[in-house]
Order: sequence, then C-alpha cells, then structure tokens
Amino acid sequence: MKIKKQPFGTLADGTEIALYTLVNVQGMMATITNYGGAIVSLSAPDRHGNFGDVVLGFDTLEEYVDHSPYFGCLIGRFGNRIAKGRFTLDGVEYVLAQNDGQNHLHGGLKGFDKRVWTSRALESPNGPALVLTYTSPDGEEGYPGTLAVTVAYTLADDNSLIIDYTATTDKKTVVNLTNHSYFNLSAGTAETILDHELFINAETFTPVDGTLIPTGEIRPVGGTPLDFRTLTPIGARINMDDAQLKFGGGYDHNWVLNGTPGELRLAARVYEPTSGRVMEVHTTEPAIQFYAGNFLPPALKGKGGRVYVWRGGFCLETQHYPDSPNKPSFPSTVLEPGQVYRTTTIYKFLAE
Ligand code: BGC
Repeated sequence: MKIKKQPFGTLADGTEIALYTLVNVQGMMATITNYGGAIVSLSAPDRHGNFGDVVLGFDTLEEYVDHSPYFGCLIGRFGNRIAKGRFTLDGVEYVLAQNDGQNHLHGGLKGFDKRVWTSRALESPNGPALVLTYTSPDGEEGYPGTLAVTVAYTLADDNSLIIDYTATTDKKTVVNLTNHSYFNLSAGTAETILDHELFINAETFTPVDGTLIPTGEIRPVGGTPLDFRTLTPIGARINMDDAQLKFGGGYDHNWVLNGTPGELRLAARVYEPTSGRVMEVHTTEPAIQFYAGNFLPPALKGKGGRVYVWRGGFCLETQHYPDSPNKPSFPSTVLEPGQVYRTTTIYKFLAE
C-alpha cells in the first residue's frame, strides 16, 4: 500500500483532520495533511542513499493551528502581498485584510493555509497522489467570485513532488496560488540554511519598498547580492550593506524567471554540501519568491523535538509577482469566468 491515511487531530469545531502518507517506488515519503494542504514531512535521499526529512513542520495539528509560520501549506487566494489590502477590478474596489502591517499577505486572516480541504488519495501512473479541493465562497477574505480550487500532489517515482494547481471562478477575480514549504536539505545536521548553495534562473527581480511591496521596476540582478545566476552559498552575501536586503532582513524577493511563463522550466537549484542533496524547482509560473526565513523566531520547537533557528529553512515559492492586482505592467493575475487557472510546480530531489 503506497498511500496510508491516519488521523491528525480534531479542530475546535469537531472537524477531524487527516494525515496522508505517500511512498514512491524509491522509498521517498511525503506526509501531507488536509488542514491547509500542508506538507508535514518529505524524506529525500542523501548521496549515500539515506533518507532524511528536508522540510520544516510540526508533529501536531494544534501547532499548525496555533502558530505556524505557514509551514508547508498551500497559499491562496493570493500568494505574497497586496499593497494596503486594496485592489480594483472593473472600477470596483475590493478591500482585504491588512494582516502584514498595512499590507495584505498570503490571502488574509484565514487564507487557504487555514482551510480544511476535501481530500482524495489515488495511485496515479506517476506515483501516489493526493488530490485536495476547496471551494472559496464569493467574498471570502474580501475577494470576488466563488473560487473552486484543486491542488494535486503527486510523489512521482523519479523523486519529484509534482504540484498541479487549477482554479475556476464564477466572477472576475484575482488568483495566485503557491506552496510555502520551508526546506533544509541537510535534514537536521545544519541548523541554518546559509551554507546551502543556490542557483536561480533569473536575470532580473522586482525591487521592493520598505514594506516589501514591489516598486514596479524590473531590475537586473547583475552586480547585486541577488545575483544567483551561478551556484552561490545563501549566506555569502545575505548580510551585505544593501538597501534591498535591509528591507527583507535578508533575501525575501521575487525573481523574474527566464523562459516562457506557461512552459515548465528550471526555476532554481539548491545544493546542500554535507549531505549532497540537490533540489531542483521547475515551474510554469513567471516568477519565484526566495525567502531565507528571515522572519522566523530565534528558536521554534518543531518536529521530533527539533528546534528550528532563525534562517533554519528557506522557501522557494513559485508565483506571479507580488501586488500584481495593483501593477498593470506585471503579468496579469486576473481570472475570468470560463477560464481555467492552471499552473504546475515540481520539486525534484537528487544527490551528488
Ligand atoms: C514572504 C515573507 C513572509 C513569509 C511568511 C514569505 O512568502 O515573502 O515576507 O514573512 O512568507 O512566512
């Protein structure tokens, strides 16, 4: 049996939450809960073939509900920030929660990360899969339209975690879905992620203001500490005296990916030197947010009694650019009735 379902706990309103375990032919394992669609654990082999858990998470549902910094979860309706929690569509202004200073972050007070998803496990030709669906009612968190969302996680037999997102709406709306997994490819041996080496397939990024809203400029990475066009340790330049790094407390920016949005292509590659683990990110999305865990607290109790430190995990969130609804020059995040929102992101694990 490649897919197992077990109880993960009960919400205050009595809703029972499940934890699914997916195992592929190589023995790679993912556990995923239908609370927020969160990836709770993901085991990948090191250069000696030893499996280790490469994502940050909690052992209990209560911790996810109480104080998760978006560990492993699905983000929606809109990944990252919308300036001042406002946007306009066809002359109508929509007002959203300002849950990150003056801005709106990750879908609001109760985004998709805090919703209970309907789940269905299946054996796909690629490997075990978990299909999650959620229908967000018209007006939820201030967004227009009933949004019907399906996210399929497939743990493919080539050690790829494939995430397929689809959504439809009954009213013109905006949508930008992603996954917020924090990775540490050392699987517990390295406390911070600063020695991980990173490549990002991007020539430009979207600089931000002091509240992490893009200014609208598309700036070349060349000559800046955001240049990851060759494999570079995350920690090599993270503390440089640079205005963009100051705003994010380190890396917390949106890189504009090379290649054609809509086509699956390499977005990023990460190498962890002690274990030899490599993670490749492939996506159809136009951009990626690289977040170095700069807002993590100094010590957070995680799985198996492990304590996660500041910058103990990084995120590579494939996405459309932050604040797109207010930036007509950015690729559109508008979804109209009759259209199907469809994106794919693959996290592929190798070892060297
Ligand atoms: C954002 C960070 C934010 C974090 C929350 C990231 O996607 O870019 O600014 O603090 O999510 O966990």
